Amino acid sequence: MSLYAIGDLHLSFQVPDKKMDTFGRVWVDHEKKVKKNCEKLIRENDTLVLAGDHSWGRKLPECEEDLKFIEDLPGRKVLVRGNHDMFWDAKKTAKLNEMYQSRLIFLQGNYVPYKDYALVGTKGYTFEGPFYLDRRGRIRGWDEKEAEHAEKLVEREYERLVTSFEAAKADGYTKYIMFLHYPPTNILQKESCFTKIAEKYGVEHVIYAHCHGEERFHDSIRGEFHGIQYHLVSGDFLKWNPERIL
Ligand SMILES: [Fe+2]
Ligand SMILES: [Fe+2]
Repeated sequence: MSLYAIGDLHLSFQVPDKKMDTFGRVWVDHEKKVKKNCEKLIRENDTLVLAGDHSWGRKLPECEEDLKFIEDLPGRKVLVRGNHDMFWDAKKTAKLNEMYQSRLIFLQGNYVPYKDYALVGTKGYTFEGPFYLDRRGRIRGWDEKEAEHAEKLVEREYERLVTSFEAAKADGYTKYIMFLHYPPTNILQKESCFTKIAEKYGVEHVIYAHCHGEERFHDSIRGEFHGIQYHLVSGDFLKWNPERIL
């Protein structure tokens, strides 16, 4: 009974013009690699968390084949909301859980039991620029307006995460694994409200995705920080092999 995670499948079975192949070799037929690797690694009693950016479809009917693909992967599937998951209105998470009962679990402001752990999560958010660089490529400033807007989104996501923790805590959980889609810190930060809440609740692992391409794999924390293990699980970083967390 293991816990695996991978993110950013960016499936597009019903919107073929969104195929990811142009982003490099790692993306060519990536869905076949996902399927093959999952079938090799994951058993029916394992849990697989998909850390957001599941589908390019804009509305649920446009995502059905993508979600069916995820459903057909082995194990119990838990989905985190990504910035591209337009089909998933945060306020309608309960409705999605009702619709996909026993097939997919949508983790957003609620929690999912895993052994004696609670899997908690939300999409998260972090400021990603625009940054202004000097001639040497050093950051000399950024768009203040965008940064201010980002702060509001961070605040909202933080509140959703608190709801998630508190729901688990109210049910007696004391051990947590925390999932985000966005990285917990941006390139300017050493820590954030997301790293602090992880520390406050004694989280053991923080899992996030969203960062694509070599140049972004170091955007946030990886490995141990203040006693917590941080994992980047974007699919292209993992070369489509889900990471075993527990
Ligand atoms: Fe993504
Ligand atoms: Fe993303």
